[in-house]
Amino acid sequence: MCGIVGYLGTKPAYEILTQGLHRLEYRGYDSSGVAIENDGGEMHVYKSQGKVSNLEAAVDGKPHDGTLGIAHTRWATHGIPNDINAHPHVSDDGRIALVHNGTIENYAVLHEALAGHGCKFTSETDTEVLVQLIEYIRLTNDCTLADAVREALGQVIGAFAIAVIERDNPDLLIAARRSSPLVIGIGDGETFIASDATPIVGYTDKVVYLGDDEMALIRRNEPLEVISLNDGSHPGLDIQTLRLSVEQLEKGGYDTFMLKEIFEQPDTLRDCLRGRITADGNRVILSGVLDNKERFLNANRIVIVACGTSWHAALIGKRLIQDMCALPVEVEYASEFRYGSPFITDRDIVIAISQSGETADTLAAIELAKSKGAFVYGICNVVGASIPRATDSGTYIHVGPEIGVASTKAFTGQVTVLTLLALCAGQLRGTISQQQVTAIAGELLRIPDILRQVLKLDDAIREMSRIFTYARNFLYLGRGYNYPTALEGALKLKEISYIHAEGYPAAEMKHGPIALIDKDMPSVIIAPSDSLYDKIVSNVQQVKSRGGHVIAITNTGNEDMRKLADYCLEIPRVMECLTPIVASVPLQLLAYYVAHYKGCDVDQPRNLAKSVTVE
Ligand code: AGP
Repeated sequence: MCGIVGYLGTKPAYEILTQGLHRLEYRGYDSSGVAIENDGGEMHVYKSQGKVSNLEAAVDGKPHDGTLGIAHTRWATHGIPNDINAHPHVSDDGRIALVHNGTIENYAVLHEALAGHGCKFTSETDTEVLVQLIEYIRLTNDCTLADAVREALGQVIGAFAIAVIERDNPDLLIAARRSSPLVIGIGDGETFIASDATPIVGYTDKVVYLGDDEMALIRRNEPLEVISLNDGSHPGLDIQTLRLSVEQLEKGGYDTFMLKEIFEQPDTLRDCLRGRITADGNRVILSGVLDNKERFLNANRIVIVACGTSWHAALIGKRLIQDMCALPVEVEYASEFRYGSPFITDRDIVIAISQSGETADTLAAIELAKSKGAFVYGICNVVGASIPRATDSGTYIHVGPEIGVASTKAFTGQVTVLTLLALCAGQLRGTISQQQVTAIAGELLRIPDILRQVLKLDDAIREMSRIFTYARNFLYLGRGYNYPTALEGALKLKEISYIHAEGYPAAEMKHGPIALIDKDMPSVIIAPSDSLYDKIVSNVQQVKSRGGHVIAITNTGNEDMRKLADYCLEIPRVMECLTPIVASVPLQLLAYYVAHYKGCDVDQPRNLAKSVTVE
């Protein structure tokens, strides 16, 4: 949650910072702010409720020159979204400005102690406590800003990525982190900091991912200095090359990032598959699996941890791995796993799935699994994020930056990687026949073209969606591999259209949800011609006979379903284990257009953030 940006260099900082905030808005967008310091050491702080464009309007015409600055886009945790609670927070004496991503868990204790020393607070945030603590230490110890920041962070319990500047010191920018991400971009005479690499793209491709409990001292015309917050030592700098282009961050002619990302899926899945299936189509090469052969051969069990959409991918992964690897698989919400005293041994493999690679609950689940000796495997999209760095091994899904808050291409990428993983590990363990591997791998390679055909449903879905904006509730039903597809379809609709939607295993309908069905509650039923098709047909009939409207996702040319359902979205027939990838695309479009016709902000739905770095 929250995005931070900082700049010290030779160019006007304000433009760089606000552009960076726009790129980070997916992390939170209920308020934003900026602190700019000019070369004479004069500091200006501006804050505004709402999106970054509100901040820009508020700053317009006011002084904002300077080549040093910090900025923030917020997703509220402590205190309502308003101008006062927005960051940067400034110390009592107006000297120090600070932006923060994370949560200070012991803020109440620190607040009380500081208030006892006469410190006055203006906001309801946990962050303000930190800036006041830095000021208090700075004044009582008569020390440098860097020493005060380090000392204050030693007293803080919780997660933080911070950036700090001080008045009358236009040559110093300080950044530090624990658990929340922070990237440093090293340019020519200029340095950038940001919550992820997107604000840095286009300025430099040299980046350093600040480690946990590290502080960066960025001084004008001096090399970057990184210090351990624990012992003051200097860890070596691992300068990496960023492989992201500005074009990848833009909308490419689409109205929204979400629509662009839905339409990108044929290409993103091709990228995801590239080099992972041998030219003869007979073997799957996932180095994360093959380099850890013994782990996969000797595993007792696989536990998959994830949140939200990634958890839905995990449910599909469970079936894939069980079917192909003959291994028991459990799927846990990372938030439940971390506090659930899970029984984990060193013969377990824990797979953590996360698009962003920064989800706090998933990171904590990884640490717990590691402490119990499990081998931890990450499936992630964002290269260099905290989760791939915390895991023992893993696979990137390589679907490019996902900016829309509702996950689309990352979901299909995650399911694709899970299919590859099940095939690769199954082949290693001898639990899947060569014939099956060749057949599934061959069909996987055809999925990008199949998705191109599915995307031709766009016009039909757009038309149909207009009709359903009246609905206040939706039911999504699926069976087998497509029960998680139903959950994901329902999540997409509720996230972006604010229509309540429930996903259910279709056969469970008769145990309760059937009571809800009437003409005002449409049911989306995923009914491909698979092993459970006959069963699902009776679910369609049950809905119809109670006056419900049915939108069926079925296979091309299914005349029977055309007669039964009110609307049929026909997708090409694929092997059963691959249907979730194909069936989820019309569900994404349905959610998208219903939200669009309701006038919702599809890319930045209310109350949500792309990267959930708090508990
Ligand atoms: C997806 O549409 C959601 N915005 C959300 O459920 C998301 O999948 C979840 O927060 C997990 O994020 P991660 O994959 O980055 O860990």
